[in-house]
Amino acid sequence: MKTLAIAALVALSSLATFNTHAQTAAPAAVAKNDALYQALGGKPGLQALMDVFVAGLKADKRIGEQFKDTKSSFLASQLVDQVCMVTGGPCKYDGADMKTAHADMGITRANFNALVEVLQVSMDARNIPFSTQNQLLALLAPMHRDIVTAK
Ligand code: HEM
Repeated sequence: MKTLAIAALVALSSLATFNTHAQTAAPAAVAKNDALYQALGGKPGLQALMDVFVAGLKADKRIGEQFKDTKSSFLASQLVDQVCMVTGGPCKYDGADMKTAHADMGITRANFNALVEVLQVSMDARNIPFSTQNQLLALLAPMHRDIVTAK
């Protein structure tokens, strides 16, 4: 059921790709206030979540290999800053934009969906309510336009 909800979210977000800037890095959607950031437990909540998430990515049978050279503490800290920023928190993400960060990785839609599933399992493990999970996924799903580059 949850997987279906995610698939629908990703499918919906791809309906909105018909804009004149489809070839350029899309500006990230940012929340209007910090309600989602607070619901995720603020910075400590995000740090705990991203530690679980990155460990889950590395252990995942489908996409773990793609993270084999990744330093967990670096990726977790970049994700904390990025998600803090897009959920309305007081952080500034200073890493690469999503198009640049994932260029030449040959990421497929299946890879992207696998990552979303790992995130969902990680949020369950942190007891994050389903409605909060969906709000975060709705902010992240459109990023597939910049991240997925292979069939
Ligand atoms: C909504 C989905 C995603 C988000 C929000 C995301 C976010 C990020 C961020 C913030 C970075 C760090 C960039 C930097 O600081 O330069 C990164 C790097 C990376 N991402 Fe993603 N990503 C997503 C999807 C994916 C997928 C689907 C894959 C592959 C299955 C992937 C593989 C990687 C790898 C391998 C790195 C490099 C890590 C390193 O420095 O070793 N990402 N991503």
